[in-house]
Order: sequence, then C-alpha cells, then structure tokens
Amino acid sequence: MREERPIIALDFPSFEQVKSFLALFPAEEKLYVKIGMELYYAAGPEIVRYVKSLGHSVFLDLKLHDIPHTVQSAMAVLADLGVDMTNVHAAGGLEMMKAAREGLGAGPKLLAVTQLTSTSEEQMRQEQNIQTSLADSVVHYAQRAAAAGLDGVVCSAHEAAKIKTATSASFVCLTPGIRPKGSAVGDQKRVMTPSDARKIGSDYIVVGRPITQAENPVAAYQAIKAEWIGL
Ligand code: C5P
Repeated sequence: MREERPIIALDFPSFEQVKSFLALFPAEEKLYVKIGMELYYAAGPEIVRYVKSLGHSVFLDLKLHDIPHTVQSAMAVLADLGVDMTNVHAAGGLEMMKAAREGLGAGPKLLAVTQLTSTSEEQMRQEQNIQTSLADSVVHYAQRAAAAGLDGVVCSAHEAAKIKTATSASFVCLTPGIRPKGSAVGDQKRVMTPSDARKIGSDYIVVGRPITQAENPVAAYQAIKAEWIGL
C-alpha cells in the first residue's frame, strides 16, 4: 500500500537544525520523516519524542543487528518511543527478525535491510562468501524477512518488482536514491525519479538532500510529493 507522503531524510547533525527545518512547514502539514544514526546518536531518543509531538510520523533507520534477545528488548524500547517504522539487518537471521517483530509489536512497520547498496557483488563474494548473484541474495533475504513476519524491505527501486514477485504484492518496498528530474545526484549512483519509482512499485520513497538542501524546502517537498502521487 503506497504512502502518499515522501519520507524526508532528516540527515542533520543536531537537534537545533531539525527544529529550524521543521519550522519551515505549516503546522498543519503532517510529514513522514526518517531519523538515521547520525541524528539519533547525536540527539538521543528525545528527537523522536519531539518530532512525534509535532504530529509527524517517524521512520527510525537504525538497522539493528545483534542476538535475538537484545534486538527484541531494543525494539520494545523503540515501540514505547512511538516510532511508526524501523528496521533490522536481514543478515541477523530469521530468529532475530522474528524476535524484532515480537519486541516491536504489531503496530509499527518493520523492514529489513538486505544487501547494502554500497556492497558490490565482488565484495559480497569475497567478504561474505555468498556465491550467488547480488540480486539473488537480495531476493533471498527479502523472502526470509517475509517469512519472519516483517512488512517489507529497504531496496533500490530497480529491485522492487522482483522482490514483490518473490514475496507478495503487499510486501513493502521502501526506496531511497530518489531524484526529481534536473536535481543534483550527489553521491547516489543509481537514482530514479518519484514517478518512475511509483510506476515500478515502490510503496515508500525516501528523499533527503533534494528537499533539505533546496532553496525552498517546502516547495521542493510539494513538487516531489505531487510527482510521487501522480498529479
Ligand atoms: O540525500 P539523499 O536523498 O541521497 O538521502 C537518502 C537517504 O536514504 C539517506 O539518509 C541515506 O543514508 C539513505 N539510504 C540511501 N541508500 C540506501 C539506503 C539508505 O540513500 N541504499
């Protein structure tokens, strides 16, 4: 099921910068934001409580990966914080993913990270000793995540169709690396426009710098949202 709001990656180093950024938007505009490791480790759980207190939705992108018991307990803490979505590494295994689901409860969405997009097929073979193609490894991890009761995966928009075929149409594909036409690609290697991501089956898109670094972030957000929902 497609989420109409593009998720804004709040890749800021401090609480103060997040406050200034969010203050640009009218109070009635309820956003969906991504809080990643940098901001969470700098600002702590208080940043989640603050963003939630403004009525926004939060995807807490911490990519947990530890023994099942530890991940389950940590997920219970994140559920109490009120996160709407969070994630784990599928490489942690089926039992870890099941424990994560148990700890988080049924309400918030739980996604898996399969192979990081910074990992090449060569690296995967050498370092992880996985002797399949990168695409097959991604699909395998997606199937394990589905079997563990997770809601979906973080993936490249290019992989979304394959993953849905291997799992189910309702298995969520959240895709970063989104760039509206004509914007700077930055360090992203494989990018896709919001409308192409919709056509290819993404359920959520994550957009950072094209909004956060824009001259007018509110206008940039509205334009990307319009393209995403197909206006
Ligand atoms: O600024 P930009 O739109 O490139 O930000 C994308 C966000 O999505 C960043 O927070 C980045 O860490 C994250 N991400 C990504 N590619 C992945 C996984 C996460 O760009 N494969």
